[in-house]
Amino acid sequence: MERLLFISVVILILSVATPGSNGDLIISNFNVMKYGAVGDGSTDDAPAFVKAWKDVCQSNSQISRLIVPARTFLLKPVIFKGPCKSQYIYIQLSGKIVAPKTKGGYSGSQLNTWLGFNYVEGLIISGKGTIDGRGSIWWDNPCLGKAVPGTSCRPPTALTLYRCNRFALKGITHVNPARSHITLTSCKYGKISNIRMIAPGDSPNTDGIDISGCKSIQVLDSFIGTGDDCIAISGGSSRVHISGITCGPGHGISIGSLGTGGDRDIVEDVTVRNCTITETLTGVRIKTWQGGVGYARRIKFEGIRFVRANNPIIIDQFYCPHRTDCKNETKAVRVSDVTYRGIVGTSLTKEAIKLNCDQNIGCSNLVFDRVYLSSAVAGQKATAFCHNAHGTFSHTKPTLKNCLLPN
Ligand SMILES: *[C@@H]1O[C@H](CO)[C@@H](O)[C@H](O)[C@H]1NC(C)=O
Ligand SMILES: *[C@@H]1O[C@H](CO)[C@@H](O)[C@H](O)[C@H]1NC(C)=O
Repeated sequence: MERLLFISVVILILSVATPGSNGDLIISNFNVMKYGAVGDGSTDDAPAFVKAWKDVCQSNSQISRLIVPARTFLLKPVIFKGPCKSQYIYIQLSGKIVAPKTKGGYSGSQLNTWLGFNYVEGLIISGKGTIDGRGSIWWDNPCLGKAVPGTSCRPPTALTLYRCNRFALKGITHVNPARSHITLTSCKYGKISNIRMIAPGDSPNTDGIDISGCKSIQVLDSFIGTGDDCIAISGGSSRVHISGITCGPGHGISIGSLGTGGDRDIVEDVTVRNCTITETLTGVRIKTWQGGVGYARRIKFEGIRFVRANNPIIIDQFYCPHRTDCKNETKAVRVSDVTYRGIVGTSLTKEAIKLNCDQNIGCSNLVFDRVYLSSAVAGQKATAFCHNAHGTFSHTKPTLKNCLLPN
């Protein structure tokens, strides 16, 4: 947490330093306009950004600042590579960054990301700017060219951070990605706060934030209304703290899916606190495939409010979407030490709590305390379903009596 505190100090220094205070040795400024960016929304400014990035990344100052002024910049797919020389790379985003209007704008790119940051330490992206993925061209047909029968196509994620330690994303608005809004892969010590992510509720695969293989990540005080998971935490992630999120539309906050194709996956020490989840398909969910190994443990959901969520609380150890050959296996990802505390709200379907655990492995030490869920439909009673789920409950409605088994 010390490192994150340091990032806050850097943001504070930057907020009092006036742009252009070049005399200061601590901060060097680089404005994309000085590198030939046009900012008219139709010229590809990616080459100018890459040119500016080279100087930003090679600067020896403690903080190297890339200034993106209040204009509209069209960028074709681009990767900003580190490692860089400065301790902090600060992208001050005042303007709007937009993706190509047509899929042709992506041709030649092998990337499954539109804007990528790789191996950049101390990356701070902050400002009142917007990142617009213009994803609607991908939603109906996710392939770049003609669909090859039998293959699946993967539209680009809007913003990807790969192996970026000590990062902070703050204040930005993200709209309409082709696929996920933000993907974090193998990053440590990161903080996302006060951001807004917006895409239509029916836009396919537009996860808000995907976290995989990451440690010590905070997601705070943000709004996420999108077409898929608001936040998805997958294998290799630990110490993830989520708080103050307003989620919906979307598929809620998910852990998983874990154990895909027999994988060994581990997720531990996750806290989801003080969140409001409105009109989502699922609420808080842990999903694992049959045949996988590893575990999901020490997970806390506290202070959650559901408003007409379809299925507020789910543990599903039989996860298998869009497939017909869903077999039961002897192995499964172990789920244990999951706490649901101080949860209120309404469910659209009858089954407000669904704990569908594997026959052999099961789920253990589930703790329910002060969980009050009722039906959003007049005259309908909320119910709970359990299969091989073990744990304890107190002050919980619908009751888990004759449902949850002792540990
Ligand atoms: C809970 O989250 C809301 C935003 O949804 C925020 O305004 C509030 O300060 C948070 N409360 C606590 C105790 O963290
Ligand atoms: C797997 O096991 C569960 C729980 O016993 C059962 O409900 C489900 O029908 C089984 N699925 C298959 C494909 O056998």
